[in-house]
Amino acid sequence: MISGIGLDIVELDRIAKLEEKSGKFAARVLTHSETAIYRSLSGHRRTEFLAGRFAGKEAFSKARGTGIGADCNFTDIEIIPEPSGKPRLYFKGSTVSGFISITHTKKIAAAQVILEA
Ligand SMILES: CC(C)(COP(=O)(O)OP(=O)(O)OC[C@H]1O[C@@H](n2cnc3c(N)ncnc32)[C@H](O)[C@@H]1OP(=O)(O)O)[C@@H](O)C(=O)NCCC(=O)NCCS
Repeated sequence: MISGIGLDIVELDRIAKLEEKSGKFAARVLTHSETAIYRSLSGHRRTEFLAGRFAGKEAFSKARGTGIGADCNFTDIEIIPEPSGKPRLYFKGSTVSGFISITHTKKIAAAQVILEA
């Protein structure tokens, strides 16, 4: 049974500026495993990855119905690709029963999450 859905869209420029300005935005959003992937990327693909994770985490928080907050930090949520590239969701170290899909263009990234009960 579907227990929640969440959708989020974000501008790549905004994400790139946030990271350039503070140098801490990626660390605030990404887990250690995600950071390792992020650091292996460069240029546009790097921003795309960060923006996609940000959108995915906001979409997950909406599907949960809590939003991002004390009980659901960005780093509580982890989105790791399977060998095929398909992203898989984890929350506080456990596999999430549900699905995530991420997309990007030159200007935006978006993500959709569906949770199962
Ligand atoms: C829910 C959350 C993810 C909304 O994100 P947002 O980027 O501010 O807003 P969006 O435009 O993507 O989404 C807004 C919609 O989310 C929905 N929403 C709000 N709270 C929600 C909740 N608890 N559960 C599910 N959906 C929720 C609403 O439908 C809202 O639209 P509406 O007010 O017109 O009905 C919120 O937890 C949040 O603001 N997180 C950002 C926290 C943060 O630290 N950002 C860093 C930026 S530098």
